[in-house]
Amino acid sequence: MNASRQVIILDEISKLATKQEQWEPFSWYKEMRENTPVYYDAEQDVWNVFSYDHVKRVLFDHELFSNKKERSLIPVPRQMDSRSNVNLVDPPEHRKRRALLAQAFTPRSLKDWEPRIQEIVDELITDMERAPVVDIVQKLAIPLPVTVIADLLGVPSRDRNRIKAWSDILFLPYNLEAYDDIEEQKGLAMKEFAEYLYPIVLEKRKHPADDIISDLTKAELEGEQLTDEEVVMSAIGLLGAGNETTTTLISNMFYCMLFDQPGVYQELRADLTLVPKLVEEVLRFRFGATIDRKVARDTDVFGPEMKAGQVVVAWIGAANRDESHFARADAFDIHRPGNQQHLTFGAGPHFCLGAPLARLEANMALASFVKRFADIRKVDGLNLNDHLTASATGQSLKSLPVGLSL
Ligand code: HEM
Repeated sequence: MNASRQVIILDEISKLATKQEQWEPFSWYKEMRENTPVYYDAEQDVWNVFSYDHVKRVLFDHELFSNKKERSLIPVPRQMDSRSNVNLVDPPEHRKRRALLAQAFTPRSLKDWEPRIQEIVDELITDMERAPVVDIVQKLAIPLPVTVIADLLGVPSRDRNRIKAWSDILFLPYNLEAYDDIEEQKGLAMKEFAEYLYPIVLEKRKHPADDIISDLTKAELEGEQLTDEEVVMSAIGLLGAGNETTTTLISNMFYCMLFDQPGVYQELRADLTLVPKLVEEVLRFRFGATIDRKVARDTDVFGPEMKAGQVVVAWIGAANRDESHFARADAFDIHRPGNQQHLTFGAGPHFCLGAPLARLEANMALASFVKRFADIRKVDGLNLNDHLTASATGQSLKSLPVGLSL
């Protein structure tokens, strides 16, 4: 099979052509939920589901919808398919691998990390005070997650720009025109990232410190320690998974406050306990995530006959706007009961391991920001197109100027 046929290209399914359409895919989601909630794309031989219940079933039912996939939206590079990778595996095997990472997170509970995360947040916010307009993506949404995850792993945070650049490339979505170029970029990023981490892993094996890489060098899987290569690959996985997603969440919080519900900022100023509700509503309202699985055996659970080996894509962003689950789903409403039932962190066995960390970072950043700045405002003449870029979650913000009042 041609390598490019192993990659599923989402834009070829949605046919959403412009950046703007891809940033606001919600009317297309609605059309699909209402007209073809189980849609077969013959060109790529891919099933697509859009309703809340179907998406949740795909994520939960690992016996029918397996993670052992040959074709994928963002294929995991071959080097990462090691016995410590949590991605390409189903329960019960998956449980052992996941426990390994969970174990690596345990010695310092998130509570222990709060002071350090607060320090990073305070530094970034203090830096913004001098300017009347800041680019919130570059000044907060990008540096916060990469600095935190580098710290947790025990990698020098002064290298955060390089770490960020490599992990962005590894998560780049494919498109048909630039397939070979993207593939080459990913190969190179993987090689450089691994070469950078390798000596750090060797050093931590000799002199363990209080960080996740050190824990991974000591952790055992079926009675054997992980090899240096396996630790390197696990570290790349964590550095990548925790980065772009959390950046998207923080950027989107500001977009929602400015454009989806102007005025909500003053509500937060008056009552800081609303901050976590805003974070959850942003996760529900504005996250174009998609997840793919392989159909494990012939089934008609969703109506049409799906064949073993075919791929199914679960459109999480569409499920999160499903009216049969969230009343007035297209309204941004931080007071919505049950908004945390969104599927943005997945569901079932592969539920995001880093969800508590992502939530903590977003909540701490927003609470500190709201305490510091009296108001935020849109800048005149903003052309959204100039601020969007393709990413694993669809179009995402590469920059967003925000006017600030102290
Ligand atoms: C807003 C931020 C985040 C979002 C939206 C997000 C989303 C997701 C989703 C949807 C999955 C499930 C994938 C699947 O079912 O195939 C997942 C898994 C995972 N996430 Fe996150 N994530 C975020 C932040 C993080 C952070 C900060 C980490 C940090 C270390 C992380 C680590 C992981 C890991 C290790 C898995 C694999 C779990 C498994 O397969 O058992 N994520 N994430």
